[in-house]
Amino acid sequence: MSKKYKTFTINEMTASLGAEIVGLDISSKLSKLALRELNRAWLDYQVLFFRDQPLTPEQHINFTKNFGELQGPGYMPTLDGYPNIYVQEYPTLYEGLVSDVDWHIDASFLTKPLKGAVLYSLDVPKVGGDTTWVNLYEAYELLSKPMQKLCSSLTAVHDNFHKNLINVLNTYGAQGYEMARKATPPNEHPLVCRHPETEKKCLFYSELMISHFKELTNEENDNLKEFLNNHIKKPELGCRFKWENNSIAFWDNRCTAHKGIFDFGQSYRLMHRVAIQGETRPKQ
Ligand code: SIN
Repeated sequence: MSKKYKTFTINEMTASLGAEIVGLDISSKLSKLALRELNRAWLDYQVLFFRDQPLTPEQHINFTKNFGELQGPGYMPTLDGYPNIYVQEYPTLYEGLVSDVDWHIDASFLTKPLKGAVLYSLDVPKVGGDTTWVNLYEAYELLSKPMQKLCSSLTAVHDNFHKNLINVLNTYGAQGYEMARKATPPNEHPLVCRHPETEKKCLFYSELMISHFKELTNEENDNLKEFLNNHIKKPELGCRFKWENNSIAFWDNRCTAHKGIFDFGQSYRLMHRVAIQGETRPKQ
């Protein structure tokens, strides 16, 4: 076991973020010490990975409940009898929706965006289908001081339908869109936020959801978004996970953004996701 943690070993993914946890069976009830240590590792590494952890739906839910209240059902498909388990199945159920294609912070359009999520792979393609995360603390820290100052003065509008509009209309029709629009109106958050637990500043930037910054002209918005889209994609700021069946990724949604890489053609990919409700409004 590592010196820093008594109940498991850590294998860091990159110097930026991400760590694989070895030596812990998350299907069973975890000790108070293991939970405390996991929470500390989660805050330190921002995304934790586990391998070879076959989970029943109850075990998946119970593990996630250790870290907060669960997200309820929305307009994405959930597992029969388990309204907290979102089913992410390709290429069937999700066909046409692009919600996972661009870099995003989950449900950043909510007043209190999700705290985190536990994504579990049940059946993954042999080739492709990795997921990548970016460290949004470092994304902020890497900016020059004048750029940090500019970003710190901006209010971002997070809109669920900013890039999804056409696909939502095609998939659910005008009525479905109207309902979804009412259920998830846009929300404003500072572009630079302080993490509620670590109190570190991060660039709370979601390419998929941010339609514009309120204080800027259209031209300024286009240019800044292009810069930030490229900035958060710097490989040095990220880590990339190759899934196997029964792998888990558990990320802190308050200081990371992520992107599933859809490079597996028409192969089958089945994931279950249980998310943790947001507890706080992002603030500076
Ligand atoms: C997600 O964006 O929540 C899922 C990412 C993935 O399926 O790889």
